[in-house]
Amino acid sequence: MSVNEVSALNISRSSKEPTVQQLFDLSGRVALVTGSSGYLGSSFARALAEAGASVVCASRDAEKAQATAESLPSPGGAQHHSVVLNQIDETSLNEGFDAAVAAAGQIDILVNNGHAGDSHDLTNVEAEHFNQQLQNATGYFLLGRRLRDHVVDRGVGGTVVIIGSMYGVVASYPDAYQDVCPASPVHYHTLKGGLVHMTRHLSAYWAADNVRVNCLSPGPFPNERAPAEMVERLCTKNPMKRMGVPSELKGALVLLASDAGSYITGQNLLVDGGWTAW
Ligand SMILES: NC(=O)c1ccc[n+]([C@@H]2O[C@H](COP(=O)([O-])OP(=O)(O)OC[C@H]3O[C@@H](n4cnc5c(N)ncnc54)[C@H](OP(=O)(O)O)[C@@H]3O)[C@@H](O)[C@H]2O)c1
Repeated sequence: MSVNEVSALNISRSSKEPTVQQLFDLSGRVALVTGSSGYLGSSFARALAEAGASVVCASRDAEKAQATAESLPSPGGAQHHSVVLNQIDETSLNEGFDAAVAAAGQIDILVNNGHAGDSHDLTNVEAEHFNQQLQNATGYFLLGRRLRDHVVDRGVGGTVVIIGSMYGVVASYPDAYQDVCPASPVHYHTLKGGLVHMTRHLSAYWAADNVRVNCLSPGPFPNERAPAEMVERLCTKNPMKRMGVPSELKGALVLLASDAGSYITGQNLLVDGGWTAW
């Protein structure tokens, strides 16, 4: 019997229905979060820690990763850790994953959130920038496969959450950026659209291994450095007429990462204030 069938049987045979608190509880699980010191990544790391997980914070910078790990809450006493990981460098990516397992003993949840950005737009992007942007997808895949192989070796299930974007689903409005800043990068749209479909592909193949793969696609969550005029224009394009704040992604992340999402795989969950609804 496969790991998957055993898990389904355990769910159907359990005498007591799990409570909502039990379903969202991540006690005893370990999550590796890339880009964990960033604007959204730090919120993701806090969400997982607040749900009881032990979090391994990854950054390209050891001190940043350590500071983020030290800042996390630990409601049930879970230890947090930090590793150096550059997802567009295969050696660094593998060393980072190995270091995460060595530090925490196991990884159950992978949040592929880090993003090596590039601000060129379709008028001036060169092949080199375009190709490097797509390397983010390569990194997400290679890390996902490390997680899959690691949990299969341990005979347990695992979860991968890929951070996409509303721009993996819809085009940007040219007039939101016109004369304020460069258009949202064409290679970013290419990357994020590809991640939504990579999610589907991996979920179909790894379901047999009890590894769930989902994409969480934020809508507009501009940080304080975003041009005010552009933010104002974006607000007019959104049914809710406002931008998101990072804490509004925490619930969706924990849903996908925890047993609350045990029958959810291959999906792209948009948290966008309704941006893609019209
Ligand atoms: N904010 C939004 O409006 C929005 C909307 C849709 C989707 N997203 C997605 O959400 C994710 C987080 O974005 P954010 O807004 O939080 O941006 P951010 O604050 O710039 O964070 C991005 C993080 O990526 C990490 N990073 C950069 N290059 C990397 C590399 N080569 N390998 C590994 N990590 C790398 C950086 O961490 P270190 O410098 O510590 O290595 C940085 O903390 C991204 O995938 C982004 O595309 C954001």
